[in-house]
Amino acid sequence: MPKAKTVYTCNECGAASPKWVGQCPSCNAWNSLFETVLAAPAARGARPLNAPATVQRLDSLAPQAIARRASGLTELDRVLGGGLVAGSVVLIGGDPGIGKSTLLLQALSEIARAAAVLYVSGEESADQIALRAQRLGVVGEQLRILTETQVEAILACAQVERPQVIVVDSIQTVFTEILQSAPGSVAQVRESAAQLVRFAKRTGTALFLVGHVTKEGALAGPRVLEHMVDTVLYFEGDTGTTFRVIRAIKNRFGAVNEIGVFVMTEAGLREVGNPSAMFLSRQGDAVAGSVVLATQEGTRPLLVEVQALVDENHSGNPRRVCVGLDPNRLAMLLAVLHRHAGVATYDQDVFVNVVGGVRVTETAADLALLAAVVSSLRNRPLGRDLVVFGEVGLAGEVRPVSRGQERIREAAKLGFARALVPQANMPKKNDADIELIPVRRLGEALEVLG
Ligand code: TYD
Ligand code: MG
Repeated sequence: MPKAKTVYTCNECGAASPKWVGQCPSCNAWNSLFETVLAAPAARGARPLNAPATVQRLDSLAPQAIARRASGLTELDRVLGGGLVAGSVVLIGGDPGIGKSTLLLQALSEIARAAAVLYVSGEESADQIALRAQRLGVVGEQLRILTETQVEAILACAQVERPQVIVVDSIQTVFTEILQSAPGSVAQVRESAAQLVRFAKRTGTALFLVGHVTKEGALAGPRVLEHMVDTVLYFEGDTGTTFRVIRAIKNRFGAVNEIGVFVMTEAGLREVGNPSAMFLSRQGDAVAGSVVLATQEGTRPLLVEVQALVDENHSGNPRRVCVGLDPNRLAMLLAVLHRHAGVATYDQDVFVNVVGGVRVTETAADLALLAAVVSSLRNRPLGRDLVVFGEVGLAGEVRPVSRGQERIREAAKLGFARALVPQANMPKKNDADIELIPVRRLGEALEVLG
């Protein structure tokens, strides 16, 4: 294969330079030059310059239903939007050691029962993979492994093997021979991924790309991969806990914000069908500063425990620390609490934590957060049978949140007896076996809580 010509292009202004320089000579941006392949003009398209492309009417198109392949892991299928789509490219990002290789090996071994698969590893030797497979108890009969890092060699092998599903673990180890940059550099990641994506689209092969997250929290290369793929999944979890949550960030074939929950065990990842029960640590007596929040992750309600610790501050600079919730939101809510409910915390340190390493981004957590703070401040436990949700506005009003009914039903299902809910979320008829306590304002809610 002849060496393709490469130039260094500025990511900011697009100026090209034959050599790498630290500062773009055209727009003066620093460190913005990356090696790119100079495509020959003929390769850009065989169509003569003036021949018009075909324009179609939208209503003349009859889209076919997308065929999906089950991965054997229902939690993964849910995040994918109901299964793996042929020809789709899925990027799975996450910190090193979180369990990406384990997840994909487990999924592939299931898929392999019905379809040809290929697991390409550039990180581990075949022996290491075999060892892991043994530990996971997966049957290796149908599972084919390739340890290779050159993308041309991978594609040549795929041409021969014709797998229906390919996993490339990880994209940072793969390189193409047409670029001189080191594997893992932005240029290499972008070009290798582009070649793999083209292959997947052309042949209808489903492709999983594993990507490590860098220290800055971005998928290596300034998110260069995210727009090239159909689906972006993040695999996350605290290293201290065994919970692993897989989350869809972008999905052309399904909804985002879906999550799948797993626990990492001795024998690989185990799915958690009922995460609410898992995230609640409801042992022992009720303690002050703890409240159960009914939150919503994608299409699924989730009950989690929110804990607050409010403690006297003597430094004159009270601390507000949040784990799993937005710290700015906490500061704002504490102001609302003071202004509209007369509860002052300016001389108190406030620490808030969501148990189990869960991250809650929705505003429906407001009321639960304040309930936990007030409970800790007054040192008065809230009942163990209570669940709370609702948004708190700047005027001290309790606002409705989406999918109230489902949150209420989930709480009832898990045996909670009372739910503090926004008035506007009250169902016309309460069909769940749970007492509903509607509130309109924050002050009202605090009175109910006592
Ligand atoms: P791995 O899948 O290699 O992570 P990644 O590919 O995201 O870097 O997972 C590695 C971690 O998972 C490792 O620290 C050990 C743990 N692990 C288990 O606890 N149980 C198991 O059965 C396996 C295979 C791994
Ligand atoms: Mg790995």
